[in-house]
Amino acid sequence: MTRVFSGIQPTGHLTLGNYLGAMRRWAAADQHQADALFCVVDLHALTMDHDPARVRRLSRQAATLLLASGLDPELCTLFVQSHVDEHARLSYLLECVATDGEMRRMIQYKEKAAKEAARGRSVRVSLLTYPVLMAADILAYGTDDVPVGEDQAQHVELARDLAVRFNQRYGHTFTVPRATLPQVAARVMNLQEPTRKMGKSDESGLGVVYLLDEPDVVRKKVMRAVTDSGREVVYDREERPGLANLLEILAACTGGNPEALSGVYESYGALKKDTAEAVVEVLRPVQERHRDLCADPGQVEGVLRDGAEKARTIARPTVDAAYRAIGLLPAASDTGAAVGAGTETGAGTDTAVVLNTAR
Ligand code: AMP
Ligand code: TRP
Repeated sequence: MTRVFSGIQPTGHLTLGNYLGAMRRWAAADQHQADALFCVVDLHALTMDHDPARVRRLSRQAATLLLASGLDPELCTLFVQSHVDEHARLSYLLECVATDGEMRRMIQYKEKAAKEAARGRSVRVSLLTYPVLMAADILAYGTDDVPVGEDQAQHVELARDLAVRFNQRYGHTFTVPRATLPQVAARVMNLQEPTRKMGKSDESGLGVVYLLDEPDVVRKKVMRAVTDSGREVVYDREERPGLANLLEILAACTGGNPEALSGVYESYGALKKDTAEAVVEVLRPVQERHRDLCADPGQVEGVLRDGAEKARTIARPTVDAAYRAIGLLPAASDTGAAVGAGTETGAGTDTAVVLNTAR
């Protein structure tokens, strides 16, 4: 069965971009068709300035919203990254396979580091190595498919490269994963700045629809969306990004096609109104389920506890195999077979090395 893994960072309130680009597919398709794991990647939330209490709160909220958006613990595994040590264990090994140049080429790193540099600030080392941790998230589970939005495609590509390189150097250990992108809304744009991604760490929040925004707030944000000059409703991502974004959001919410929808509308106002209502309707059931789940926090905790246990069982053998393949000596408490093999084949060579150095 295909193995699917994806994650979401608890760095801000989840947005319509997260939902249309990733979460909705996880619930509607992935969990039914594959052996799927979904993870609140809290270690990733420590790569930029953070407030410990806020990360804790947002981690719980992200898990609750994932359940509210339809993830079913009977069908998939939902857990928090820091509850499973295998991610950090494997990340270090992959740091010994990845190169500095490779890390510095990552678009997201370049953008964030440049922004901090402009303010005279340096970034955390973990921001540079974050794609390696993400690769570890993916490779630890023998993942085939990684359903993400377009912004993550480069990181998944890196995970592929690292898997191939590790396998070539140290023997076949990892499945080589690939990114799967949604057909519409792979990149939902900020409503105020439609050339920028709708991201959860936005400073003003005016151009960002959050999953927990009240219907009236959603309507206001969509009605105030920046559109392009001109009158005709046409679908052109390059020349008319504001309009294209609304058409894509409407298409994603109603199951339509942005190109076809552009022919239906004669005015921007009518398009905005329908888009606002479509978004409100898509969010309504998610918000209702979220409210119910908040009334029963024990339920979410139980799901996360069982999820972490299941995830550990899956990741452990792969990460242990990677430790052995790369040349780390198994501890005596590991299985007898592994220790036996290690001492037999390794002892002679090790002694020779020690003697050589001593001379
Ligand atoms: P993040 O918010 O960076 O943790 O992203 C979690 C998931 O949501 C990833 O698969 C992203 O690619 C996806 N995602 C985030 N923002 C957007 C967006 N504006 N449009 C489409 N997908 C997005
Ligand atoms: N880096 C991803 C993001 O910002 C989140 C993430 C972390 C992830 N680990 C992952 C996504 C593994 C898919 C698979 O969206």
